[in-house]
Amino acid sequence: MSECNCSCDENFKELDFEKMEDDIIVCRCEEITMKEIREWIPKGYDTFDELKRLLRVGMGPCQGRGCRDIILREISKMTGVPVCDIPSGTIRPPVKPIKSSLTASKGGEYE
Ligand code: FES
Repeated sequence: MSECNCSCDENFKELDFEKMEDDIIVCRCEEITMKEIREWIPKGYDTFDELKRLLRVGMGPCQGRGCRDIILREISKMTGVPVCDIPSGTIRPPVKPIKSSLTASKGGEYE
């Protein structure tokens, strides 16, 4: 993997991606395994959005909060591009799940 000068690897110091088994489910929401991710990256699907369109990763209820960083790290490992140089993918609002009453309210206070 290439080195970079930012702190993009700080979040991954505890994880040993080299030992991550193929059958580990990376995207729990869409039940996508590491094997599936590893199969498609060498075929040119080397951005999060491309894998998202292909495998639906990041399209579950958590909107990629559970899988995005792991997938970006795997792309980095397999392509040699630093994580900070890989586009993190399109994130559409709401960024996190919210109650529908919030979007239906006319503003002001809500419970
Ligand atoms: S874990 Fe991938 S979308 Fe939730």
